[in-house]
Amino acid sequence: MIRYESRLIKGIIEEVLSKVNRSRLQVATHPIGIDIRVKQMKDLLKLGTSDVRIAGIYGMGGIGKTTPAKALYNNICDGFEGSSCLLNIKEVSDN
Ligand SMILES: Nc1ncnc2c1ncn2[C@@H]1O[C@H](COP(=O)(O)OP(=O)(O)OP(=O)(O)O)[C@@H](O)[C@H]1O
Ligand SMILES: [Mg+2]
Repeated sequence: MIRYESRLIKGIIEEVLSKVNRSRLQVATHPIGIDIRVKQMKDLLKLGTSDVRIAGIYGMGGIGKTTPAKALYNNICDGFEGSSCLLNIKEVSDN
């Protein structure tokens, strides 16, 4: 019984912390067609399996690659103990 309660409390604490600690990335003001992209990328990443996967998004400059990547991050970050989104790699690495 005590064991069950302590597990339950631990679960509640993890759930609450995951909700209050994470800041969300700013996606487009009026996003269009983002949800379907997020779903497609989640399918590709096969979340929930023990595999480690990397997915790339490619296309012309400004076509909208970073925006769905940020929306994906916002959508899945709560499922991880820790998360970090590294942005502007191109700009930083040019220096
Ligand atoms: N689905 C979308 N709905 C609305 N606006 C969008 C969408 N996708 C991108 N945008 C807008 O288009 C602009 C360019 O998008 P984004 O930065 O994602 O492009 P990018 O392909 O990553 O660009 P770059 O090649 O320079 O890295 C941004 O202002 C973004 O807010
Ligand atoms: Mg980009």
